[in-house]
Amino acid sequence: MRRLVAPVAVLTGALILAGCGSEASKAELSVSGTYMPQPVSDSMAAGFLTVTNKGDTKDELTSVTSDVGEVTLHTEVKEAMVQVESLDVPARGQLVFKSSGNHLMFEKLKRKPKQGEMVSVKLHFAESGTVTVKMPVKSATYNPKTGH
Ligand code: CU
Repeated sequence: MRRLVAPVAVLTGALILAGCGSEASKAELSVSGTYMPQPVSDSMAAGFLTVTNKGDTKDELTSVTSDVGEVTLHTEVKEAMVQVESLDVPARGQLVFKSSGNHLMFEKLKRKPKQGEMVSVKLHFAESGTVTVKMPVKSATYNPKTGH
């Protein structure tokens, strides 16, 4: 006579997998690694950060504002700066601003930010609305990889 052994453990595992929702989640943004190298110029500065999207829907950075001056979105093409209207934040991906790549361009500075200060920056997204971040001013030669 054969004994029947119910595969209980296997069934339980299958139920847990089936429990995952199939609905796509909205864009879920977080901002990290913000910094501004202390500007050498009296009128211009650059800013860097990373936007991470944990959602299944892409978002778009459409504009940036700050009380220290006018901000535009720049990218670098063949070592030349090019202004762009918006930048995509891919679904489950990142929008990265870094030296010799995408950067925030601060112009017509009302004051010259100094190392140790914080600059308030508002990021305006098509889906997620406005995200306000504090951008620390680092040394003019700051390298985020080494931390100084
Ligand atoms: Cu630029």
